[in-house]
Amino acid sequence: MKVTVVGAGAVGATCADNIARKELVEELVLVDIKEGFAEGKALDIMQTASLLGFDTRVIGSTNDYSKTANSDVCVITSGIPRKPGMTREELIGTNAKIVEGVAKSLLEYSPNAIIVVISNPMDTMTYLTLKATGLPKNRIIGMGGILDSARFKCYLQAALDCSPNDLHGVVIGGHGDTTMIPLTRLATLNGTPVSNFLSAEQLKQISADTMVGGATLTKLLGTSAWYAPGAAGAALVESIIRNEKKVFPCCVSLEGEYGQNDICLGVPVVVGRNGWEKIIDYKLNAEEQELFNKSAEAVRNMNQVLDTLVA
Ligand code: 2OP
Repeated sequence: MKVTVVGAGAVGATCADNIARKELVEELVLVDIKEGFAEGKALDIMQTASLLGFDTRVIGSTNDYSKTANSDVCVITSGIPRKPGMTREELIGTNAKIVEGVAKSLLEYSPNAIIVVISNPMDTMTYLTLKATGLPKNRIIGMGGILDSARFKCYLQAALDCSPNDLHGVVIGGHGDTTMIPLTRLATLNGTPVSNFLSAEQLKQISADTMVGGATLTKLLGTSAWYAPGAAGAALVESIIRNEKKVFPCCVSLEGEYGQNDICLGVPVVVGRNGWEKIIDYKLNAEEQELFNKSAEAVRNMNQVLDTLVA
């Protein structure tokens, strides 16, 4: 099988590195617009093969999409990242044109590919990709909720001093500082609600830290994060390639599910060889549903900006 990752910046290269280490595919193509950059990153990753023991062939390409032909999964990380103080939403003008062009170039050579969108603002970029390509909805998946859930579990782990592998925690809604919804009510430690161990005040703080998880890192690093976003992208690719049917919160097209229509937003979905295969209904309570509706409203407003940009 074959995977393409577009954008050899920190997130794209880390995603490619994780996919290679997991040995998910025979061939992995890394594409970037900057001359020689993807080739350099690909060669660097290939030089870890004998050290790490993987057999995936990693190839770099400067914007030559013919090398990506017949990819099963294509990951789009292209675009500019956040700078400190910037929201993901402020990237829309620049990134919309880039993401649309990349999606079309990919499909020219891999008409059957499943497309994973990581570029920000991710919910709007996923919606744009769906509208611009006209692909069946199950083949377009935005990656945000897996990352936000990993951050949620990281903060829960620190508060509980437990193994992160014993935790379940899901973040739904938009992938924005004010639009994501950590579902503290449903978070568990080994099947037991975390509210049995943590106070309401502690859970409120964990939620707040999760929501600004990306911004906290952007402030510390001077640019947006890459280890967790890259690993989250690779986990999603793994569930597709290995047909794992894992349930991940992903940004997908909603047609009435969770009370929303004509929008791509984060909800729990089963991910397998066909992309996202079904939406799982977590039966939100009234308070959670209200937050979800507000999140949808904010993302819908952002999506409307596309009409002025890409008309
Ligand atoms: C983040 O939250 C890059 O959106 C990504 O770190």
